[in-house]
Amino acid sequence: MALPKGFLWGGAVAAHQLEGAWNVGGKGPSVADVMTVGAPGVERGITDGIIEGENYPNHEAIDFYHRYKEDIALLAGMGFKCFRTSIAWTRIFPNGDELEPNEEGLKFYDDLFDEMHKYGMEPVVTLSHFEIPLHLANEYGGWRNRKMIEFFVRFAKVCFERYKDKVKYWMTFNEINNQRNTESPFLTFTNSGLLYKEGEDRYQVMYQAAHYEFVASAIAVIEGHKINPDFQIGCMIAFCPTYPASAAPQDQIAALKEMDRTYVFADVQCRGHYPSYILKEWERFGTDIRMEPEDLKIIQEGTVDYIAFSYYMTFTTEYDESNVRHLGREKKNPFVKANDWGWQIDPIGLRYALNLLQERYELPLMIVENGIGLHEHEEADGMIHDDARIEYFANHITEMKKAVELDGVTLIGYCPWGPIDLVSAGTGEMEKRYGFIYVDKNNKGEGTLARKPKKSYYWYKRVIETNGENL
Ligand code: BG6
Repeated sequence: MALPKGFLWGGAVAAHQLEGAWNVGGKGPSVADVMTVGAPGVERGITDGIIEGENYPNHEAIDFYHRYKEDIALLAGMGFKCFRTSIAWTRIFPNGDELEPNEEGLKFYDDLFDEMHKYGMEPVVTLSHFEIPLHLANEYGGWRNRKMIEFFVRFAKVCFERYKDKVKYWMTFNEINNQRNTESPFLTFTNSGLLYKEGEDRYQVMYQAAHYEFVASAIAVIEGHKINPDFQIGCMIAFCPTYPASAAPQDQIAALKEMDRTYVFADVQCRGHYPSYILKEWERFGTDIRMEPEDLKIIQEGTVDYIAFSYYMTFTTEYDESNVRHLGREKKNPFVKANDWGWQIDPIGLRYALNLLQERYELPLMIVENGIGLHEHEEADGMIHDDARIEYFANHITEMKKAVELDGVTLIGYCPWGPIDLVSAGTGEMEKRYGFIYVDKNNKGEGTLARKPKKSYYWYKRVIETNGENL
């Protein structure tokens, strides 16, 4: 069994979760900079501005901004072929609505991408990864406002122009479908910089914001291709397949409808139009999405080149008659285990996910996030023995290979999440560790920030060396 030659083995991070230096080099505050620390099962707080004495983990993060050379060298030590990161919007446009970019911010990413190329590492870049300028959230209401299209497109074009010879793989919006859960301020704030007002129709506001993002993403794809026709510009979906809890027909429908809530975000960006099921749903719920006459044409012309997705878990659902939106009720899957944060571990679900996406879209796929958060510490021999992580990845890579070799899925690359410990997006914890490299820092922000390879570091190095043969 062999993965294709040139397969992009690497890892993935996001600027706000590792760079730190939140107000250095002309950077403005982003939505991530007003988020405090949560805990397993407890969402992060969002404060009104930056409050003295609060613990904002992203402010320092792991100080990658000042240590990126050391960190890139460590990642290169595993033989990374690519490295996914994001460009912090607020380093380039500190408030988001300026006309001219911040040169110091642009220079930082020039240096970072040069450093990657020094080791033959392909940059894979997300434009918007939970880092919307705070000013745009506060003054414009985030993506509820159509003006965001203009701001985002300006940002995207500046990045495309500047890095056109350094970056080939791009993504527009990270996990754009997270916001479908309108009950979570964390998800709507990080996805779209919006917080719902008392009594408003969240469903309508959510799809309005998503519509503007679809238009912005499509314009970025169109403009990006003009700047460099070789660009590969993808969407990025959080893909958690939902299984029916039983063989009962109504559970099949519940699972199907639940999946539609994810698919709609990929359907629009990959197929270039709104699918019929969502148009019918809007009709039923009296949802009225404001669109300009050219919007649908832009969406049609700006379809993506590939699908990037994160895969962490699957869900299970059963029919719930009381739910007017005909969504299922989430259930625990008795066939799979979960980590300390309740994320269900399902390697076969990755093969299933790859098949679903391949069959539906027939576009190249890239796994740009996969991994397990664990509590870890140094043991008596000074080593971090993360055997649970090795087992997790070995099982997932085995299933990924089956999808390619047995099912014919077109897969470009595999980037596990957080190859170096970083701030958790969901809880703000440092102690929800994903890395092959340990970083000495705890949830309170204490520690030396020293880096140290874990046991899995040497394991993943061998996996890359053998193109996935030696697990
Ligand atoms: C994805 C995000 O949701 O999952 C990342 O794109 C995030 O930003 C990752 O860090 C893991 O989630 P968490 O909450 O464990 O950090």
